[in-house]
Amino acid sequence: MRILEVIDLKKDYGAEPNITRALNGLSFTVAKGEFVGIMGASGSGKTTLLNCISTIDSPTSGQIYLDGKDLLQIKDRDLARFRRETLGFIFQEFNLLETLTIQENIALAMAINGKDSKTIDQKVHAIAERLGIQDVLSKYPHQVSGGQKQRCACARAIVNQPRLILADEPTGALDSSSSRTLMETMQDMNQNLQATILMVTHDAFSASYASRILFLKDGTIYGELERGTQTRTQFFGQILAILEDLGGPQDVYPTQPEKHAP
Ligand SMILES: Nc1ncnc2c1ncn2[C@@H]1O[C@H](COP(=O)(O)OP(=O)(O)OP(=O)(O)O)[C@@H](O)[C@H]1O
Ligand SMILES: [Mg+2]
Repeated sequence: MRILEVIDLKKDYGAEPNITRALNGLSFTVAKGEFVGIMGASGSGKTTLLNCISTIDSPTSGQIYLDGKDLLQIKDRDLARFRRETLGFIFQEFNLLETLTIQENIALAMAINGKDSKTIDQKVHAIAERLGIQDVLSKYPHQVSGGQKQRCACARAIVNQPRLILADEPTGALDSSSSRTLMETMQDMNQNLQATILMVTHDAFSASYASRILFLKDGTIYGELERGTQTRTQFFGQILAILEDLGGPQDVYPTQPEKHAP
């Protein structure tokens, strides 16, 4: 079942004669239950794409459908609610509110949505237990470990069973061991909690947890890799080979996409 459909998306910043075309006619779909990674050099349009899908930014032209709903037709006054009810976010800095407890951070969007407190409580406790942070629910972010903060951010992203979880460089500020833990949590949410995830990353290791990777270049999709039946380690090797071919992780897109087609 198709969750997300992006059609011929274009985004220009600025005005004549200084226009930057951040997205240049980009199309793809994401099926329910997929874990899709997006890789591409700095400036290739990854964040712009995520911001358009999350309705934080609006494209210059093109269409975005989520569950068949045309996101560009949502009225401004309904956007915040749409985001709270339909999307989950995992940010690089995790963006936990320091004045709220872990429990309150996880519950915030549902509370704003007006869910009753008993339902909220049940959902928060269920996901906290699933992710192993039930013992720190009453603590504040500065009182818990980095890994617990990560899991809190994951719990917050998934607690309301969003249709799609969006993550922009979630491991960007983490050391390798924390990255592994976070990616294992995201993989668990994808495989066992049916979360559909779209994740931007520069990092081949993080990308290797995805089921499919889209490579962006100059605002379009330049190549695609499917994990298929490969193990994660094999997939990691395949991604690394592509990166190496391309002259290192600064240039994460293939110069000859046909060569890498699955
Ligand atoms: N608000 C803006 N105004 C003008 N140009 C912008 C704006 N935001 C992004 N751009 C330009 O659009 C292009 C795509 O930017 P974007 O942030 O999407 O890249 P990215 O792939 O996320 O890069 P990075 O890996 O560095 O985060 C870049 O050329 C960037 O300079
Ligand atoms: Mg970016």
